[in-house]
Amino acid sequence: MIICFCSGVTDSDISEAIAAIRTSDPRAVITPGKVYRALGKAPRCGGCVREFVDHMRSDEQFAVPAELRGLRPPTPAVEPEAAEPPLRPAV
Ligand code: FES
Repeated sequence: MIICFCSGVTDSDISEAIAAIRTSDPRAVITPGKVYRALGKAPRCGGCVREFVDHMRSDEQFAVPAELRGLRPPTPAVEPEAAEPPLRPAV
């Protein structure tokens, strides 16, 4: 099924590009730009972006590798009493 009519990219092209990127770099963060570059093509109108990304997300090799998940420490919660009081206009 054609996903990008401007460049003639099919759903299987996207899957094959994702597999190739993942094979060459298992830690790669895969973006639409990398997929287009892997295919030697470029987007033109951008009308396919949503479907293109939806197909990328549905590919089982697209996910960020497990060892790279959760690297960012959790953001500390701000206690309500620790938050700054709201500004009041000078009287
Ligand atoms: S349909 Fe993909 S860039 Fe136009």
